[in-house]
Amino acid sequence: MIKEVFQKLGLSETNSGASVGGSGGGLVTRGRELVSFSPIDGRPLASIRQAGAEDYEEVAARAGDALGKWAATPAPMRGQIVREMGDILRRSKEDLGRLVTLEMGKIRAEGLGEVQEMVDIADFAVGLSRQLYGLTMHSERPRHRLYEQWHPLGRIGVVTAFNFPVAVWSWNALIAAVCGDAIIWKPSSKTPLTALAVMNLMAPVIDKYGLEGVFNLVIGRGSEIGERMIADRRLPLISATGSCKMGRHLGRTVAGRLGRTILELGGNNAVIVAEDADQEMALRAVLFGAVGTAGQRCTSTRRLIIHHSVRESFLDRLAKSYGRVRVGDPLEEGVLMGPLVDEAAVQGMERALEAARTQGGEILHGGERLEIEGLEGGFYVRPAIVAAPAGLPIMAEETFAPILYVTGYDDPEEALALHNSVDQGLSSSIFTNSLKYSERFLSHLGSDCGIANVNVGTSGAEIGGAFGGEKDTGGGRESGSDAWKGYMRRQTVTINWGDEMPLAQGIEFDAD
Ligand code: UN1
Repeated sequence: MIKEVFQKLGLSETNSGASVGGSGGGLVTRGRELVSFSPIDGRPLASIRQAGAEDYEEVAARAGDALGKWAATPAPMRGQIVREMGDILRRSKEDLGRLVTLEMGKIRAEGLGEVQEMVDIADFAVGLSRQLYGLTMHSERPRHRLYEQWHPLGRIGVVTAFNFPVAVWSWNALIAAVCGDAIIWKPSSKTPLTALAVMNLMAPVIDKYGLEGVFNLVIGRGSEIGERMIADRRLPLISATGSCKMGRHLGRTVAGRLGRTILELGGNNAVIVAEDADQEMALRAVLFGAVGTAGQRCTSTRRLIIHHSVRESFLDRLAKSYGRVRVGDPLEEGVLMGPLVDEAAVQGMERALEAARTQGGEILHGGERLEIEGLEGGFYVRPAIVAAPAGLPIMAEETFAPILYVTGYDDPEEALALHNSVDQGLSSSIFTNSLKYSERFLSHLGSDCGIANVNVGTSGAEIGGAFGGEKDTGGGRESGSDAWKGYMRRQTVTINWGDEMPLAQGIEFDAD
């Protein structure tokens, strides 16, 4: 099965870790070897000769060479090219989805869902390519025209994480492409093969339109390639997904050269379940939010803030559902939770649970490591539910694992305060049938997150909205809505079509 997927996606046992796109775009790379392991059984999938410093230089230069022609291509034409890419992704959903599962460990349905996000954003980008609108203002001066227009930004760096190894590239790259930018992609070193597969899938379109240098890939170490990329003044924008720690460093470096960033960093997302909530709906949403993707989404539900009057009955049902969650081979039908991405992730989970215990939390369900027969090298755990008194220090941290901390509340205001008490601000959710409480949650006095949902869980956002969060989540927005503006430069234009030279603000300035 692996062989067949590899063949369909153009992968070999040894691969080049840098490409400027197209069938001939792979470089002879000079970095160290990287082996990609499957978290399903810990076995090696393939190796990659990573990009070294000179390889990065070559890619950055080739991206620069490609800019002129690409930026001069009319945006709707760029959109048509992205449409062809979307069509390939549509046709390759099965194979690419399977590779995502193999390399990252999310279950089949979620691997397919991830590729669907790519298809959706491609469709969105095609429409967008005819809607890169600028505003026209009324000038305060007679016979003057004032308006804004949007130009391509240039070369942009895209840093993606292992958990959405291909969708997050598409949110950035396919939008940036219709905006006329050239993209240099540095994927997570945990998921290099999915990145290579995406490049291989795009190759026919790149060949057809001669787009070498527009869509680029560099697989390399953070300390070598990542550092070089974020310090590179030729890249006016770095869009990055990852931990708050990584974002703080990256943000400082890029700000130091006055570059721009789009940061999508850690989340610590909570669901509030009110007294009057539809418990069945809340249960399903919390289960998917906390257990889905083995708790390895930025949007995963990490905290449940539940009214005391329903706490017990809800937790009873939730624990039963947890007990029915099949953990195992993510390729297998009926399995709802695959492995964590690696050993470090399992240890991180164990450390967090230990901290919770010593700080006064109580593990109500799960948390133990699992051995799955035939998959002994994999990284399996049972998802955990932890009763956590308000203020438990470990709850303030994002642990990329399926741990759900549960805190009770009496007063709705107290629930909102608990909700907002963490440093991160990505996604949030409330389950209630009270109009007043849900509106309160959505008001400026309510959730402080970039995403706020009512009777919808914290994870699984659609691509049409802007995606990102506040506070330590970094403030960036990707994907739909007007996130495209982050990938272009705005120019404000004033044209005087009269015969006078009036100044704004009524200033008279005349030497005669
Ligand atoms: C992420 O975890 O970085 O909203 C992205 C969601 C997905 C994307 C998550 N559409 O859960």
